Amino acid sequence: MRQVKAVIMAAGLGKRMRSALPKVLHPLCGAPMIDWAVRTAADAGSGAPYVVVGRGADEVRTYLGDRALFLEQTEQLGTGHAVMTAREVLRNYSGHVYVLTADTPLLRAETLIALHQRAVDTDADAVALTARFDDPTGYGRILRDEKGVFQAIVEHRDASPDQKAVREINASIYCFSAPRLLEALDRLTNDNAQGEYYLTDTLAVIKSAGGLVETLCLDDPEEIMGVNDRVQLAMAAQAMRRRINEFLMRKGVTIIDPANTYIDAGVSIGQDTVVYPGNYLEGATAIGSDCVLYPGNRIVDSAIGDRVSIQASVILESSVGEGTAIGPAAHLRPGSRIGKNVRIGNFVETKKAEIGEGTKVSHLTYVGDAIVGEHTNIGCGVVFVNYDGEKKHLTEVGSHSFVGCNVNLIAPVKVADNTYIAAGSTITDEVEEGDLSIARARQVNKKGWVAQRLQKKGEST
Ligand code: UD1
Ligand code: CA
Repeated sequence: MRQVKAVIMAAGLGKRMRSALPKVLHPLCGAPMIDWAVRTAADAGSGAPYVVVGRGADEVRTYLGDRALFLEQTEQLGTGHAVMTAREVLRNYSGHVYVLTADTPLLRAETLIALHQRAVDTDADAVALTARFDDPTGYGRILRDEKGVFQAIVEHRDASPDQKAVREINASIYCFSAPRLLEALDRLTNDNAQGEYYLTDTLAVIKSAGGLVETLCLDDPEEIMGVNDRVQLAMAAQAMRRRINEFLMRKGVTIIDPANTYIDAGVSIGQDTVVYPGNYLEGATAIGSDCVLYPGNRIVDSAIGDRVSIQASVILESSVGEGTAIGPAAHLRPGSRIGKNVRIGNFVETKKAEIGEGTKVSHLTYVGDAIVGEHTNIGCGVVFVNYDGEKKHLTEVGSHSFVGCNVNLIAPVKVADNTYIAAGSTITDEVEEGDLSIARARQVNKKGWVAQRLQKKGEST
């Protein structure tokens, strides 16, 4: 690929978001807006792009780390002013540079590449991306002469009523010849409604200096939807979700109701898995094939094997082996390593727990800081008592064992393979292989006690 650089404008105040968080760090589908812009530029061949930071500069730098190079715009005097911060780094560079905003997260890398290609093919000094909007309110308008040749961009606020009627808008995404851009930036003024240096004016400046300005009009205007407030953020997120869901459906995933299924970019799902509405699949999550995700799950940073079914459950930083059934209403907290063909039933909570193949934990149980073997049955209402008020301790339960209902296992404690623990026991000492352990008060029945009590009552009145 030919050499190309990128400058991403991300220093604006983002006032219309009304947020303490810098606008470009607002997430959609699991990644902040700036993340989408940086990835798109890099995918379009720019390498690590230059990001112009201002508002929330430190937070943006920290988030991006070494995936970007940073330019500081200390005062936000407009988009043209933002790009002026790149003067030094573009000084001795004669190639092309993408200039884009951080607030159009739906932009595709292919579109940037097409802009670059257009610049190369036509030998243009600048190519601006445009689209036709039914409602162009708020956007800069593309002005053309009677032959349709590009003349200038006028901002909505500066536009006359005639100009406002133009439906072709500026996407604020460009490919410039770097030397022509620098020359034009030197000649920008801030003589407009907002008293700002508009990057948009560089195009008219290039033209008046005899340069060639081309435009590329997008068929799919959704791609350049700008996000200035939270209404637009929700709209963009919805469009991004649709894109992610369609990609997965084309790969063989059944999504029953895509409008109500929330899958982050980067989540992978195997073929023939069925996803019901109300699933939230987040972060670095991988779901296997032939799974069924029934309604109402939230799965974050977790690895789920093939043929797993999950209902109305929360799974965080955990793994689940193939053929396992989870829920409804299970909570797998970080560090749960659930084996194959396991059953984790209703109202079961696990944390830092390894549970072996074929084991069943079917009802109302807490398994924290534990290692449980294979084919063991954990009864209803068992508590792995892992906390002594100061420290957490480990409980180990072996394979082929039976832990009766309502047992407390007071950690640290070990229960060997092939053991039985009677219901209601409170286990504080090791249970050895082959043993039955009963640790509860012996039952006492008082013969005729009720009648005696009634009689006593009668005597005292
Ligand atoms: C801009 C364009 C408009 C276009 C629209 C498309 C200008 C003057 N206008 O308007 O023609 O239709 O995008 O979405 O360019 N920024 C800085 N420093 C600044 C000002 C802005 O870095 O001093 C950054 C912002 O963080 C943002 C981007 O530049 O990422 C665009 O700024 P914004 O204020 O959102 O411009 P629009 O009014 O949307
Ligand atoms: Ca904008």
